[in-house]
Amino acid sequence: MDILEIIMAILRAVWLMVPMLIPNSAAVLFGGGMPVDFGKTMKDGTRYLGDGKTWSGLLGGTLSGVILGVIQMIIMGLLNQPDWTINPCITCALPILFLLAFGSMFGDMLGSFIKRRVGRERGAKFPILDQYDFFIGAMILIVPFQWFWFKVNFLDGVYLAGFIGLIVLIPIMHRVVNIIGFKMGKKDVPW
Ligand code: CTP
Ligand code: MG
Repeated sequence: MDILEIIMAILRAVWLMVPMLIPNSAAVLFGGGMPVDFGKTMKDGTRYLGDGKTWSGLLGGTLSGVILGVIQMIIMGLLNQPDWTINPCITCALPILFLLAFGSMFGDMLGSFIKRRVGRERGAKFPILDQYDFFIGAMILIVPFQWFWFKVNFLDGVYLAGFIGLIVLIPIMHRVVNIIGFKMGKKDVPW
């Protein structure tokens, strides 16, 4: 296993996980309007999820991840790069794409649910959870429901190094994207 192989494995892991990485940023662009929790509060008066989780964000984020994944597969098909495609068969890949994209939004909502339970307002910082909630959500759905796909692409041989690299890169990518979103005026806070 040389360094170039490891770098390629990391790039590949990031590429295959694009349908998981994109939905949160897309939700910022598409979000707004009716909150997923319909504004409802729990008995203690705190919101279930808060105004930062909206139906349009959930839908726009999930669809963006799935559509981008299909585009990626078309590109890799044209370039004849089967190792770099999510699945050679686009229709067979749809469940994988959905679990990655929806799982990402699900994790983000789970993160907000936990934040609200410990009294953090919408947009308040919660280190680690803020950076990894979408990843955890996607893993919760992908690992049991697409175990074989996950194993052959992220656990076997050098691909495991790629997966570890992806985990290390996630908070860095998260930070960079949020600073861009903040500078564009799309996000109220740079985290
Ligand atoms: N967003 C949305 N719907 C979602 C997820 C995100 O509309 N399902 C939009 C909201 O405008 C949100 C922004 O994307 O404010 C940034 O998302 P995030 O940082 O996850 O939300 P926060 O506002 O920080 O809220 P929380 O404290 O619940 O994470
Ligand atoms: Mg936030």
